[in-house]
Amino acid sequence: MKLFDVYPLFEVEPVNGKDCYVYDQNQQPYLDFYGGHAVISIGHSHPNYVKRINHQLSQISFYSNSVLNELQIKLAKKLGQISGYEDYQLFLCNSGAEAIENALKLASFENGKNQVIAFNHSFHGRTNGALSVTDNPSLRAPINCDCRSHFLELEDSEGLEKLLKTGQIAAVVIEGIQGIGGINVPSEKFLQEIESLCKEYKAFVILDEIQSGYGRSGDFFAHQKSGIKPDLITVAKGMGNGFPIGGVLIHPKFKAKFGQLGTTFGGNHLACAAGLAVLEVIERENLISNAKIMGAYLKRKLKGQSGIKEIKGRGLMLGLKFNFPIKELRNKLLKEAHVFTGSASDKNVLRLLPPLTIGKLEADQFIDKLNQITKKLDEDAAISIN
Ligand SMILES: Cc1ncc(COP(=O)(O)O)c(C=O)c1O
Repeated sequence: MKLFDVYPLFEVEPVNGKDCYVYDQNQQPYLDFYGGHAVISIGHSHPNYVKRINHQLSQISFYSNSVLNELQIKLAKKLGQISGYEDYQLFLCNSGAEAIENALKLASFENGKNQVIAFNHSFHGRTNGALSVTDNPSLRAPINCDCRSHFLELEDSEGLEKLLKTGQIAAVVIEGIQGIGGINVPSEKFLQEIESLCKEYKAFVILDEIQSGYGRSGDFFAHQKSGIKPDLITVAKGMGNGFPIGGVLIHPKFKAKFGQLGTTFGGNHLACAAGLAVLEVIERENLISNAKIMGAYLKRKLKGQSGIKEIKGRGLMLGLKFNFPIKELRNKLLKEAHVFTGSASDKNVLRLLPPLTIGKLEADQFIDKLNQITKKLDEDAAISIN
């Protein structure tokens, strides 16, 4: 059997990883400024992570959600404590898209409405509901097309109020920082307007922190700078450092009903062990403040560098906007300088999503390698003009 060929692949096969590096079969190191798509939060193969999962595997790895599972309770408690959402409730699932599906469903169950407001350049996942709030029609199959979503520009408060006034809107769904769209940060004022308008018109705020959460922005959640308290917060990616796990943080006003939500694998023992290890390491190693410090360091050092028009984002969720498309730069960074980086739907944005454990050594190494490749591209361009 062949694999269903949906992924354009780089010709690299990481076979092991340690902290901010992955290694191929020849043990060639690659500096990981992509974090396997914003997933690696505490670094590859962190000893605490390996130990916890190994130990759990030797005890019990899975049983159904119809029995007690102390690890789920411990994970919810720790997440509440570290995130500052101690009074919220946690529903555990397996991925980001699933977290979004469940958040949309909860909002609609609760207020009985069925339309949603989302934003241009958004990405929330590839399942039916998540796709309906994702601004990329090419990902939607005819069977997915349900037209109950409205898309607005970020910061369009007038449009937001106009739609909310119809009384049909179940929820407004927004990323803490737009990731795939090119690292676009909603203003604190706009987030506060969303919160107060949703309260006024009885819609819910769903904050998608799947990419921007778990310390990546320099706060546990990116929206926390604005002081708002969303009704529903979705998490995944950095939550498991690679082990599939997702979740919805649910405001205490939502009262759970038996059977309303459910999943076979969500919250299994191994996933909870991974989730607990991640939170322990984030806390013990002060990774949220490290993300803030290293993000500011990278911004300071990269400012004014050749070809960079703008540095977007904060913490370790940065977008370097170049004055040219970055495809070749990204390829050369990987092939010639052995550095993984990310792209975005904005073709001029190079996305940086390293593990939250990077230090100055890795940041300086990245900057040197970026300089080396941009210089080479400049020289090649000069030769081709002459
Ligand atoms: C902001 C955001 N939401 C949702 C998702 C979907 O997550 P998953 O791929 O785990 O379904 C992603 C994935 O990239 C994302 O970046």
